[in-house]
Amino acid sequence: MSQPIRAAVIGHPIAHSKSPLIHTHWLKQHKINGSYEAIDIAPGELPRRVAGLINEGYAGFNATLPHKEAIYALCDEVDDTARAIGAVNTVVIREGKLHGTNTDAFGFIANIKQNAPGFECAGGPAVVLGAGGAARAVIHGLLSEGTTHIIVTNRTAEKAHAIKAMAPEKISVVEWAGRDAALSDAHMIINTTSLGMNGKEPLAINLAAAPEDALITDIVYAPLMTDLLRQARVRGNPVVTGIGMLLHQARPAFELWFGVMPEVSADLEAKVLT
Ligand code: ATR
Repeated sequence: MSQPIRAAVIGHPIAHSKSPLIHTHWLKQHKINGSYEAIDIAPGELPRRVAGLINEGYAGFNATLPHKEAIYALCDEVDDTARAIGAVNTVVIREGKLHGTNTDAFGFIANIKQNAPGFECAGGPAVVLGAGGAARAVIHGLLSEGTTHIIVTNRTAEKAHAIKAMAPEKISVVEWAGRDAALSDAHMIINTTSLGMNGKEPLAINLAAAPEDALITDIVYAPLMTDLLRQARVRGNPVVTGIGMLLHQARPAFELWFGVMPEVSADLEAKVLT
């Protein structure tokens, strides 16, 4: 029998990661001789431990907090998507070399397509709340889908201005204090901040100015129905929760290591949410 294909997620802390559950579900479903585990790696240990994964014959790994930027620098090669986002979340090991990509933009768009079928990301404006790594992935996804105008608003204005460099002619910046008014013409509204997550501060936003047909989505999935999404649902706006982004971003990574493009089922979603 051939050797099992091994993959993992590395992070610090990592115990909370849902990725082993997702990939193990697909390995079983597709009867693949493989494994996917969570490995805790402290930041100072990263180069040595990654060299260990190469030596042990791993097919690759996902990188999560706090390694997404550091792993980028360790890669022998990164693709255009990872370069545009400025972070790597998926590494393929081939002949001892690290090839980095980023599947978060794919995950964001695939979640919208599955859960708001018929909605067109092209057009605009899309209002993006936040300007961290997740915002960069969301914006890369929107740009690749043909979104013509993106309004970025972030507590720290310099980070919003830095993100504008991704597409200076399509991105405009609105100050955080002006976020409610910025929604007036919105085609989509996306929370990419950590606000509203269990244990974090709530996201203070008033949707009153937003059109009732604007699609509203949140990358936060714990709780699944954030205050933002509840507020949106009460007004009748179309809503997409954040759990699908987590599930869909795993699909291209699974395909790269294990050779099968898996699907996101209601079954898998329920498993991840319990
Ligand atoms: P990620 O890579 O997951 O996007 P991040 O880079 O730490 O994580 O970004 C978190 C986002 O949440 C940022 O946009 C951050 O705003 P700042 O750039 O001003 O830090 C936003 N955020 C976190 N806490 C916030 C708060 N209390 N008020 C407003 N924005 C907040």
